[in-house]
Amino acid sequence: MNRVGLIGWPVTHSISPAMHNAAFAALGLWDWSYELAAIPPDIVRQGLRTLRDEGGFIGVNVTVPHKQAVMPYVKPDDRARAVGAVNTIDFRDNSGTNTDVPGFLADLQAHGIALADRRVIVLGAGGAARAAVYTLARAGARVTVVNRTLEKAQVMLADLSLSAGVWGVEAKTLDEAVEQAGVSLIVNCTSVGMWPQVDESPWIDGVPFPRGVTVYDMVYRPAVTRLMRQAEAAGGQAVGGLGMLVRQGAAAFEIWTGQPAPVEVMFEAAKSALQSG
Ligand code: ATR
Repeated sequence: MNRVGLIGWPVTHSISPAMHNAAFAALGLWDWSYELAAIPPDIVRQGLRTLRDEGGFIGVNVTVPHKQAVMPYVKPDDRARAVGAVNTIDFRDNSGTNTDVPGFLADLQAHGIALADRRVIVLGAGGAARAAVYTLARAGARVTVVNRTLEKAQVMLADLSLSAGVWGVEAKTLDEAVEQAGVSLIVNCTSVGMWPQVDESPWIDGVPFPRGVTVYDMVYRPAVTRLMRQAEAAGGQAVGGLGMLVRQGAAAFEIWTGQPAPVEVMFEAAKSALQSG
């Protein structure tokens, strides 16, 4: 059996098993399986070793809170080093990469969202925001970061300039960021608005929502967030985060199996898992 899976703490609500196991079935990969592995933070290194040496795992996805913690135990590629987080490990060569970056980029492209020379506001300064700023800046967007805690945004940008050579990105207040001319895209990388807090939005009350701007919300539960409704009410397009989740999974699937991922199958499986869970 070729085993792969997801390590995190906790990992109970993940839809990744449904998505990957549907993909294995669709390609007739009956000897592959995707499983959840709950590993507490203090034994991450041992957990990885056990999965690889005793469990016979080929690789794993990595989620909260381990994305940074696994870095010393794998060979991170340039992208993982730049973002400072690994979300996919291949035990066969012990390499670590970050498929959130190509997953996010592919989903922006799938929705026809242009980036080169566009002004983009990123909300948040955690792990997801790091992947977003790196992706957007490399695609030629002019990025401004807004975060509840300004210092955390400044630390993130200092790290990204050192590790990834990302320059020219500034941290501002939401007011300042919105006043800039020609904002075309707002990306939510905070968890605000995620189920069950569905009535919340990272958009601060009292700041007028810019008209005709596209919102990309990395939140995928619910499928339509309050922030997305605010964008639509202001005449803009709104895209939820399910596509990024599916496409980061598809990129990991391709690393492990060496086969093109059945992305549509993974989409359908992810949607039904969200509906039933
Ligand atoms: P992830 O790895 O998913 O990015 P994270 O590292 O915990 O998660 O980052 C969460 C982000 O959501 C942070 O930018 C956080 O803001 P702070 O840096 O100020 O903590 C933001 N966030 C979480 N809850 C928030 C809230 N209620 N209002 C505004 N921002 C919030």
